[in-house]
Amino acid sequence: MSRLAETITILGAGAMGSALAAPAADNGHEVRLWGTWLDDELLDAVAQGLPHPRTGVPLDPRVKTYRSGQLAEALDGATYVVLSVSSDGLVDVLRKAAGHLRPSQVLAITTKGFVRLDDRIVTLPDAVTSVLQEAAPDGSPDLPLVAIGGPCKANEVAARRPTASVHACGSPGVTERSRGLFATEAYAVEESDDLIGVEIAAALKNVYAIALGICQGLAEHGGEPYHDLQAAAFARAVTEMVQLAGLLGGRAETVTGLAVGDLEVTALSGRNRVYGTRIGAGEAPDEALRAMQDAGQTVEGVPAALLARELVDQLIQFGALSDWSGLPLLRQIADLLSGQEPYAGPEELAGAFARAALPARSPAER
Ligand SMILES: NC(=O)c1ccc[n+]([C@@H]2O[C@H](COP(=O)([O-])OP(=O)(O)OC[C@H]3O[C@@H](n4cnc5c(N)ncnc54)[C@H](O)[C@@H]3O)[C@@H](O)[C@H]2O)c1
Repeated sequence: MSRLAETITILGAGAMGSALAAPAADNGHEVRLWGTWLDDELLDAVAQGLPHPRTGVPLDPRVKTYRSGQLAEALDGATYVVLSVSSDGLVDVLRKAAGHLRPSQVLAITTKGFVRLDDRIVTLPDAVTSVLQEAAPDGSPDLPLVAIGGPCKANEVAARRPTASVHACGSPGVTERSRGLFATEAYAVEESDDLIGVEIAAALKNVYAIALGICQGLAEHGGEPYHDLQAAAFARAVTEMVQLAGLLGGRAETVTGLAVGDLEVTALSGRNRVYGTRIGAGEAPDEALRAMQDAGQTVEGVPAALLARELVDQLIQFGALSDWSGLPLLRQIADLLSGQEPYAGPEELAGAFARAALPARSPAER
């Protein structure tokens, strides 16, 4: 527990925002949970004393909740702010919050993905910096940014089951403070200075979890396991994540550390895995996505795959990468999800994923 109680405001009252309130409250801090304009139903349930609808765990009673109209109040006097909205909502929520942020605060993000800004695909730290500069051109609140990653399922964090996280920041001393605020017996915090490596790995693991889910779906469809293909795809995913993180300024050991665990946990359970499984079992990607959206489930790996493809094209265009040959699995997933490669059913898919994930028989084959 950190020695001084701080005021921590979490923006986004979804699964992860509400979950992260638990270790912070356990450490004796004042914790405020602000819900976006999409979170009223979640906060209504919490106000009625019901479990949080996304985690199934009651919100810690010490946590104060704020509705979307109370943003200024929620941020007033906060010393540490966590942005915990989906990648789709990051820019909007940050633009609204920017005027209430102060340079003395720390800004952390649990959000995973990429963002399109002015026709460019950027990482979330770049998006945050741009939005803050645009919001306050003469004196942008230059607050230290912490990326929160690692193998964390919100429901398990909320239930205080053992979880390893990584908090990464380029400014010395900030991660130590972050660890002091959040680390508990159940919620462990590893410190890192590789903000980009943590962010890239976290964004891409949602994409690759879809591929691993597809392998599970192939097994459901045919009644025979595809464990070997899934394991080869797992290894391929790690290799590609290392390559992309390196190209964007992150380190290999960040990807091969807790981020590998994050890929594992995302492929074991969660919306990206479920989506992939549906495709592997025989549903076309757009059909499976519609069914999940109708059930109120966002699949962040889908926009992340499409944006990652544009990001790779950007890297090729600017000469940072010669071509796509080192990223066959990413290309396969992105082509499938974008409709560029028509969906021809599980058997064809098994062949295409084998070509992408298994080592090529000859260099010309890929
Ligand atoms: N669920 C987990 O286990 C987990 C773990 C680690 C990180 N994360 C990441 O944290 C982020 C939030 O995930 P979550 O699981 O809490 O999701 P969630 O769907 O439960 O909550 C999403 C939050 O984002 C907001 N939001 C969504 N779309 C928006 C939009 N268009 N405009 C404004 N706000 C919008 C919602 O109101 C809500 O507050 C994601 O980027 C996710 O990848 C989640």
